[in-house]
Amino acid sequence: MSRIAYIDGVYQPLNMPGILVEDRGYQFADGVYEVCAIRGGKLLDEARHLDRLDYSLAALDMPTPMSRAALQQVMRETLRRNRVRDGILYMQVSRGVAPREHMFNPDLKPVLVITARPIAADRRAQIIKKGISVVSVPDQRWARCDIKSISLLPNVLARQSARNAKVQEAWQIDGQGMVTEGAATNAWIVDAKGVLRTRPASHKILNGIVRQVLLDCVVDLGMKFEEKPFSLKEALAAKECFSTASTMSVFPVIEIDGQKIGAGKPGEVAKMLSDAYDAVEA
Ligand SMILES: Cc1ncc(COP(=O)(O)O)c(C=O)c1O
Repeated sequence: MSRIAYIDGVYQPLNMPGILVEDRGYQFADGVYEVCAIRGGKLLDEARHLDRLDYSLAALDMPTPMSRAALQQVMRETLRRNRVRDGILYMQVSRGVAPREHMFNPDLKPVLVITARPIAADRRAQIIKKGISVVSVPDQRWARCDIKSISLLPNVLARQSARNAKVQEAWQIDGQGMVTEGAATNAWIVDAKGVLRTRPASHKILNGIVRQVLLDCVVDLGMKFEEKPFSLKEALAAKECFSTASTMSVFPVIEIDGQKIGAGKPGEVAKMLSDAYDAVEA
């Protein structure tokens, strides 16, 4: 079955041309995106993703491509046409099409693209069981990482560094030696004193949806936690480290830069939070 994409009003085979050369998303990376997990045919945390999409659009002075109800209808139709039960839905909104020049006309019509693809349901279970390894890289990004912009070159290069090191993720380190976040995940530790920590939401990180859901769970579970930046050194000395993102929810980190974290196996807190997340989404 060929995959179907929704491109600016038309459902069409994914590999057919659809985007115009002067789309500002293509020429300037002038656009925003969202990635929602699909489980058992259901979109997870849909409202939170749509709220964050609105936030990113507003931050860049872009209009919404259509009403929320219409957008939800297109999201569902894309899922249906691709018959995805477990996987991810990708949504991108670019500022629109115009002759190439840096400044923009605020009245441009945004271009919406939606795709969906399956991910084997047991991949997540494997990651929770085995964990992932990470390399540290300098954070080379701009000053508004809270906007989910399609301009992802530093993240792409960070993930490629991970691949070159034969590991799965890169944690980005700011000029002060503090971990900001992963190339496409938020970063967490259980520090040497046993306190769960993740960096507070600010312009320095994307306020991940799994991060938001887990912070609610942590309160409900009565766990000791702090929204406080941590250094690479603290991560290396931590009892546990893990990453979070919608693609897989919780990824236990068992090694950073070739150094074992804790016992060098997935930790209990990561497992507990993964279970808590699953319970919320069930
Ligand atoms: C830079 C970055 N941080 C964090 C995340 C995790 O966000 P979420 O939990 O919304 O998937 C992502 C996900 O794509 C990301 O790209």
